[in-house]
Amino acid sequence: MEYQKLKRIAVLTTGGDCPGLNAAIRAVVRTAVYYKIEVMGVMRGYEGLIENNFIPMPPESVSNILQRGGTILKTARSEKFKTGEAQKKAFEKLKENQIDALVVIGGDGSFRGMHEFIQNHSVRAIGIPKTIDNDIYGTDFSIGYDTAVNTVIQAVDKIRDTAASHDRLFFVEVMGREAGMIALTSGIAVGAEAILIPETKTKIEQVINILERGWKRKKTSMIVIVAEGDDAGGAYAIAKEVKKRFNQFDTRVSILGHMQRGGSPTYADRLLASRLGVAAVEALIDGRKDEMVGLINNKLVYTPFKEVASKKKDINVDLLRIADILSR
Ligand code: F6P
Repeated sequence: MEYQKLKRIAVLTTGGDCPGLNAAIRAVVRTAVYYKIEVMGVMRGYEGLIENNFIPMPPESVSNILQRGGTILKTARSEKFKTGEAQKKAFEKLKENQIDALVVIGGDGSFRGMHEFIQNHSVRAIGIPKTIDNDIYGTDFSIGYDTAVNTVIQAVDKIRDTAASHDRLFFVEVMGREAGMIALTSGIAVGAEAILIPETKTKIEQVINILERGWKRKKTSMIVIVAEGDDAGGAYAIAKEVKKRFNQFDTRVSILGHMQRGGSPTYADRLLASRLGVAAVEALIDGRKDEMVGLINNKLVYTPFKEVASKKKDINVDLLRIADILSR
C-alpha cells in the first residue's frame, strides 16, 4: 500500500484568511493520523517555509478548532516565495524537517507559486481551494464562500430594516476585487434591486432606470449590491453618480468590509473543508502531486495547479436575469 511511503507531511494556510480554514487543518491532521502519518504545521504560509517556522501537530493540536474562524496556523501573502533564492531555502527547510509532502490550503496565486516550486524542486503538494470570492477554477465552491455570503445576508437584512423604516436607498459594497460571486448570489438572497459586478459592464443609466421603476411602483426601500471591484467604481462612487440624476430617495452607503472574512464557518463550509481535507491527504497517499482537489457536481475532481492558475472560472450571468425578474 502506497501510503506507507509517506512518513511526515506538512500543512499550511496561505493568502487571505476565511472561515473554514481551521476545519480544513483539522481534517488534514486527523486523516494523516488515521493513516499513521506524522503532521507538521507551517506558520504564516510560505513565509514559514522559508523561515523554518514548523510546529508539530499531534491529533490534540486540532481539538476544538472546527468551529473557529481565522487560522490557527496564521497566514500571509508571500512576495518572497516568488524568488528562486527563497524557494531554494524553503526546499532546504522541507528536507531538514523530513517533510515528504505538503498540503497547501490557498488560492489560485498560492497554487501558481507552488507549481513553480514543484517545477524546480522535488516536492509533492496537493492544494485545497479557499477564498470567500469563490473564483477558483476547478471547484464549484471554495472554503469560506458560503459563510461569507451568509454574513452578507445577515448584514443586508438589517440594513433593509432601516431602509424600509426611512424610505431609503442603500448602496451596499461587498468584497470581490476581481469577482462578483458574493455580490451576485447574496444580491438574489436579499432581494436586491440591482447587482453590480466586475464581470459585466455597469451602465449607470440602467441602474437609474431600475431605481425609477421601483420608485414608480412605490417601493419603500431599495438596495443596490456593489462588488468592490465593479468597473464603475465602489459603492461611494456609484452612489454619487446615481444621485446626480436620481434623487427621489434619501441615500446611504454601507461598506461591509472585512467582517465578511471572519466568523464561525457554516455547515456547508465545515462539510466542504472536512471532505477536501480528507481527500487531500488521500490524494498524496495515492501519489498525486501538483494538483488541487475540488468538488464539481458534488464529486471530487483533481485539477493541475497550472490549469487552476491559468483558467478563469465562469460566472453564471443568468443569475443577473433572475435577480432582475424578481426585483420588479
Ligand atoms: O480573499 C479575497 C478578498 O476577500 C477580496 O475580495 C478582497 O478584495 C481582498 O480579499 C482583500 O483582502 P486584504 O484586505 O487582506 O488585502
